[in-house]
Amino acid sequence: MKEITVKITEDKEYKICIEKGILNNLGEHLSKAIENKRVIVITNPLVNSLYGAKLLSVLKKDGFNSDLIEVPDGEKYKSLSTAKYLYDELLKRKANRTTTLIALGGGVIGDLTGFVAATYMRSLPLVHIPTTLLAQVDSSIGGKVAVDHPLAKNIIGSFYQPKAVYTDPEVLQTLSDKDIKNGIVEVIKIAVIKSPVFFKWLEKNIDQLLKKHKDLLCELVKEAVSLKVDIVLKDPWERGLRKVLNFGHSIGHALEVEAGYQGLNHGEAVALGMLIETKIARNRGMCSEDFEEKIKRILLFLPSSLSFPSSSLSFPRKWESIFKYIKNIDHNQLWETLTLDKKNSQGKIIFILPKVLGKVVLIDDINKEEVIEALEEFKKEWKLC
Ligand SMILES: NC(=O)c1ccc[n+]([C@@H]2O[C@H](COP(=O)([O-])OP(=O)(O)OC[C@H]3O[C@@H](n4cnc5c(N)ncnc54)[C@H](O)[C@@H]3O)[C@@H](O)[C@H]2O)c1
Repeated sequence: MKEITVKITEDKEYKICIEKGILNNLGEHLSKAIENKRVIVITNPLVNSLYGAKLLSVLKKDGFNSDLIEVPDGEKYKSLSTAKYLYDELLKRKANRTTTLIALGGGVIGDLTGFVAATYMRSLPLVHIPTTLLAQVDSSIGGKVAVDHPLAKNIIGSFYQPKAVYTDPEVLQTLSDKDIKNGIVEVIKIAVIKSPVFFKWLEKNIDQLLKKHKDLLCELVKEAVSLKVDIVLKDPWERGLRKVLNFGHSIGHALEVEAGYQGLNHGEAVALGMLIETKIARNRGMCSEDFEEKIKRILLFLPSSLSFPSSSLSFPRKWESIFKYIKNIDHNQLWETLTLDKKNSQGKIIFILPKVLGKVVLIDDINKEEVIEALEEFKKEWKLC
């Protein structure tokens, strides 16, 4: 088992435990992380059907008094109204400050459950069991919890650290190809930000990873989690350095808002965000053409079929449905959405732009014209106009 300790302050830390099959003996681990035996699992119907019964039986075996609440599947339910539904259900079940909430699911369930745990009765203990690749390598780490607002993503939230994170790479075997790709986008992001060596490893293994090769996926999760923890530990409250994790997310989040949180998923939006933000960096002379090609090439694999030839840079059909969000974008509306981004500071829009593999920088003098210019070039390049 790989155990990573995340030390937030002198007296506050939690462990991320990564092991194939850890769900089967979760009770044993959980007993060490939380004081009370009353737990409520929050999940969605799909994850419940796959892992809910198994988890409840493991918890029962180890003497936990457990309950389960389902919320509908999908980003559009990461909302204040679903949070209210959960508050109602917790009250009905007489949950109190010693009741632990267990988030069993992807990033949506993790962010929503974390938000409810942070706010119900001014906080309950929280445990994450991330079941998507994205949740395992990204959203379950670092304590960001939130719900969306129709005008801005993740805009109502907090920093709230879990008691523990239990990551079982086995559960990725039931994940759809689309969600494997989604997770890999975030992994590519972290490699661009922090590790040229890991980026190379990804280039080499991407086909096998997309085919859900068990050992490689497990290796990928361990490496990506270590890299993210490294960044989070240096800046737990996102005052500066940690903002680098948002490479691809300024444009990405704005596109998600434009799409109404439907049709375009988070990974696809971040992939487009990375491509367009790299173009802005390239136009500023911050990164080389070679760097831009590398980013394009590795991201092109993701939405395409596995047999997509790496030598060609024409986009596969699946990208067409994703591109429609860029094709018809209203520039003024996009800029307006960018002004609402949480990273912004003192009236300035903050972007994270790449320089070389392993190095990105915070830029606070982005202007509307260069964003539009990059978008227009992007459209031309991909023959979208
Ligand atoms: N808190 C953070 O730091 C942070 C970081 C990155 C992303 N996020 C958030 O994460 C969310 C996206 O997360 P996501 O990509 O995991 O999406 P998701 O939670 O919607 O999960 C994607 C799909 O996978 C299904 N699923 C989950 N586990 C499964 C399994 N093991 N087998 C089969 N299907 C499974 C879900 O039911 C869902 O249909 C966004 O809301 C994003 O804002 C948060």
